[in-house]
Amino acid sequence: MTQTVRAAADESVDVRLTVNGTPAVVHVQPRVTLADTLREQLGLTGTHLGCEHGVCGMCTVLVDGEAARSCLLFAVQCEGADVVTVEGLGTPDAQHPLQQAFSHHHALQCGFCTPGFLMSAYDLLAHRTDVQPDELPEELSGVLCRCTGYRNIVAAVADVAAACPEGVPEPGNLGERTLVGRRAGDMTHHAPERSEQEASRAPERVAVPSGTPTTRVDVSARMTSPVEKVWDVLGDVERLAPCLPGAEVTEAIGEDRYRGRARVSLGPIRLVFNGVAQVIERDADRRLLHVVGQGADAGGSRTQADMRIVVYEADDGTTLHAEADLYLSGRIAQFGRALAGDVSRRMFEDFAAALDEAAATGSAPARRRAGLRLAVGAALAGIGGVVRRLALRVRSEVRRTS
Ligand code: FES
Ligand code: FES
Repeated sequence: MTQTVRAAADESVDVRLTVNGTPAVVHVQPRVTLADTLREQLGLTGTHLGCEHGVCGMCTVLVDGEAARSCLLFAVQCEGADVVTVEGLGTPDAQHPLQQAFSHHHALQCGFCTPGFLMSAYDLLAHRTDVQPDELPEELSGVLCRCTGYRNIVAAVADVAAACPEGVPEPGNLGERTLVGRRAGDMTHHAPERSEQEASRAPERVAVPSGTPTTRVDVSARMTSPVEKVWDVLGDVERLAPCLPGAEVTEAIGEDRYRGRARVSLGPIRLVFNGVAQVIERDADRRLLHVVGQGADAGGSRTQADMRIVVYEADDGTTLHAEADLYLSGRIAQFGRALAGDVSRRMFEDFAAALDEAAATGSAPARRRAGLRLAVGAALAGIGGVVRRLALRVRSEVRRTS
């Protein structure tokens, strides 16, 4: 049951709630709204803010199954609440019927009001299976579209109402996953008064990612070293860590879990991820390593990975094979599937070469692997727009804060 946590005006308190099926703990001052908490601390930026006065409805989410304006709720009022945001409604590959209908009817122009309309329409159709088409304009009037694209929005909702006379299907993207906050790289947001060092500290808990990955990587590399030697390095974190391009292990925290950081440079963009990784399976018979990891950078980019690495003897020599599901959110998600896949493949090639070297020499690779760098140029020809957008955004953020 949803309760209110009492706190003094200048005090920060923990609030426990469930967001899109994931239990989360946020550390907030009483003045922080649910909308800001979702966006700034849990990285769920699908909830948009328009008026911040309860007028436009763009910030609509479900709280305990009811539509609520998240700009009018304080996070401290949501202790024990079950919150569903637009991210929980569906996935790009398995959209909710409302999302499909909005797409089919092109029920958006700039799209800023779309999350609010989707959540509001869901609430309407979940509660009123008998709603009639001529009632929709009034029923949906709690959300404003500044592009005034109401006709297509109403047509989309009318389609779903007609197609689902028994009630609209439940949100399809709920489940336990890691919600990574901007500061802490964890589902727990740390209060501003905590030290930077503490704020950038990676969490101890590693969640196995769920849902549809941003991209899936399936790569192999031929190696010159014998299988046993390569497997030996895979089992030795001291020698393995320096093989990872741009990565360093900062602390072993027990149960085969490791804190560390990784650097990726992409043209003018430099990302430093603090994170944690855990080996969840070491199968010496199959020479298979199963690792999950998660990380976040200070700018709000978040990654999760679920990877299996196996080394085996093939006809043409030792082969290293990796399958990884990658989940990206925040700014880095703008890189998209193709680029994320390309960057991951390059990292794997670099990793395989270093691993081969470590296996051949019996020690860590002589040269510390530099962070992955992709220069602006031919390699970025296809992604120049993304990089430019990110660079412009970084510059405008710098201007705003200076
Ligand atoms: S932003 Fe919440 S109602 Fe406008
Ligand atoms: S589509 Fe632009 S605000 Fe509605």
